[in-house]
Amino acid sequence: MIRNVAESDLSAIVDIENLSFSVPWPRFLFKSYLGCHGFALYEQNGIVKGYVIADIIDSRIHIGSIAVHPKYLRSGIGTKLLDWCIDFGKIYGAAIITLEVREKNRNVQMFYLNNGFKVMGIVTGYYIDDNAVAMYRDI
Ligand SMILES: CC(C)(COP(=O)(O)OP(=O)(O)OC[C@H]1O[C@@H](n2cnc3c(N)ncnc32)[C@H](O)[C@@H]1OP(=O)(O)O)[C@@H](O)C(=O)NCCC(=O)NCCS
Repeated sequence: MIRNVAESDLSAIVDIENLSFSVPWPRFLFKSYLGCHGFALYEQNGIVKGYVIADIIDSRIHIGSIAVHPKYLRSGIGTKLLDWCIDFGKIYGAAIITLEVREKNRNVQMFYLNNGFKVMGIVTGYYIDDNAVAMYRDI
C-alpha cells in the first residue's frame, strides 16, 4: 500500500536513499517533508520498499525525489508511486507532471519514457555532478 510517511519511517527511507543515489539527501531534509501530502511510501508486509516526494507548483506536480530499494527494482513499485503522484496532482488541479533526472542515468530515463514522459530539454547547474534532463507528461 501507499501511505504518507511518519517519523518512524525515516530510517527506512534514508536507507533506500543512501543505497540509491551517489549524492543522497540528508535525513534532516526528509524530516522537513514530514506532514507534506506529497511525501509518500510504498509498504508491503510491513517493509518500506520505496518512497516519493512531490510538490504542487501552480498547475504542475513536480517530483523532487523517487526511489525504490535496490532489492525490489523492476517489480512495478516505481510505476505505482508515479501513478500515486499523478492522482495526487490531479486532486490539486495539476495538468502536467515534471521532473529532472541525471543525464548519465539512462536507465531511469527509460523508466520515465516507458511511462509516457517526454524530454523538455537539458538543464545545467541542477545537479552538482551532472547535467539534468528535464522531462514532463501531461496528466
Ligand atoms: C526509477 C525507479 C524508481 C524505478 O522503479 P522500479 O520499481 O524499478 O520501476 P518499475 O518496476 O515500475 O518499472 C517500470 C518500467 O520502467 C522501465 N524501467 C525501469 N527500470 C529500468 C531500467 N533500469 N532500465 C530500463 N528500463 C527500466 C521498464 O520498462 C519497466 O517495465 P519492465 O520491468 O516490465 O520492463 C528505480 O529505478 C530507482 O529507484 N532508481 C534509483 C533512484 C533514482 O535514480 N531515482 C530517480 C530520480 S529522478
